[in-house]
Amino acid sequence: MTVTILTTPFYMATARKQSFDLGSWVQNRAREVDAALDRFLPKASAKPATIHKAMRYSLFAGGKRMRPALVLAAAEACGGAVAPALPLACAVECIHTYSLIHDDLPAMDNDDFRRGKPTNHKVFGEGIAVLAGDALLTQAFEIAALSEAWPRYSHKDIILEIARASGSLQLIAGQVADLEGEGKELTVPQLKYIHERKTSALLCASVRLGGMSANCTPAQLKALTDFGYNVGLAFQVIDDILDVTQTTEKLGKTAGKDITAQKATYPRLVGLEKSRAIAARLTARSFEALQPFKGRAFALEALAHYLLNREH
Ligand code: IPE
Ligand code: IPE
Ligand code: MG
Ligand code: MG
Ligand code: MG
Repeated sequence: MTVTILTTPFYMATARKQSFDLGSWVQNRAREVDAALDRFLPKASAKPATIHKAMRYSLFAGGKRMRPALVLAAAEACGGAVAPALPLACAVECIHTYSLIHDDLPAMDNDDFRRGKPTNHKVFGEGIAVLAGDALLTQAFEIAALSEAWPRYSHKDIILEIARASGSLQLIAGQVADLEGEGKELTVPQLKYIHERKTSALLCASVRLGGMSANCTPAQLKALTDFGYNVGLAFQVIDDILDVTQTTEKLGKTAGKDITAQKATYPRLVGLEKSRAIAARLTARSFEALQPFKGRAFALEALAHYLLNREH
C-alpha cells in the first residue's frame, strides 16, 4: 500500500514532521499487525476449515489497517511501545473486518466487492459469511483477554472499551439507523448520529486503547478521545465523499452505491463542497486535541492529515 502525504503549511510546521515518513511508518506497522493477526487466528486448515478460511479471506484481503495504525500511533504518542498495543490493534481490526463482512451482506448493503475482491458471502455463501463475522467479533475479545496486563488499566477496562464501541449503543446503533435511514430525508443531526456511531466510535476506541496500552494519564485519554471522535467522524464524511468521487477500481468496493441504495450521506444532504469543508473542520479539531502531546503525537497528526486527503 502506498500512502501519499500531501504537503501543507501545517504539515510542514516542524522539522520533526518534515522528516516523518508516514508511508514507511504505516507499512512497517501493518506488517507487524498482519504477522500478529496470523499468529492469533486459528490456521486456515483448523477444523472446520471453511470458517477459518472465510475469516482469513476478509482479514487478509488488503484493508488499509487504519484502525490498528491509530492504536499504535496513540500508544507512541503516550510514550508506549508496540508490543503491548499490538494485540489491541489486532482486536480492533477483527471487529472492523467483521463489521464489513456483515455490512456487505444482501440483507444490509448488498455489496459484491470489498478490499478489491468479491465479498465474503460471494465466495463462501451467506451462512458462512454471517458466521465468519460472528467468529471475528468473538476473536477480538479472545485476543484482548489473552493480552498482558497494563498497569493503569485492567482487562475489564479494555474489554469494556471494545464492547461499548462495538455494541448496540454505538457501532450497531449506527448500522441500525443507517439501514432505517435508507430512502428517507434525514436531518444533519440525524446523519451525524449515524456516522458518530457506525464509524467514529470504533476509531475513537482505537486511539483510546492505544493510549491505555501505554498507561496514559486521564488527561491524555481525554485528549485521545477528542482526537478520535473528530478523526472518526471525518473518516465517514470522507467515505461518503469518496463513494461519489472515486472509481470502483480505486476504492476496491463498488463506487456510487450510496446513491443507488438511497443512503443518507453528507454529500446528499449538504453537497460535496460543504462535506469537504466539514471533514476539514473536524480534522482541524483533531489537530487541536493533540496539543497536550506537545509535538510527540506526530504519527497521529500525520495519520489525521492523510485520512483527510486520502483517495480510497
Ligand atoms: C470502510 O472502512 C468502512 C467504514 C467505516 C467507512 P475502511 O475504509 O477503513 O476500510 P478498509 O479497512 O481499508 O477496507
Ligand atoms: C460501514 O459504513 C460502517 C460499518 C461497517 C460499521 P459504509 O456502509 O458506508 O461502509 P462501506 O462504504 O460499505 O465501506
Ligand atoms: Mg453500510
Ligand atoms: Mg456498506
Ligand atoms: Mg460508505
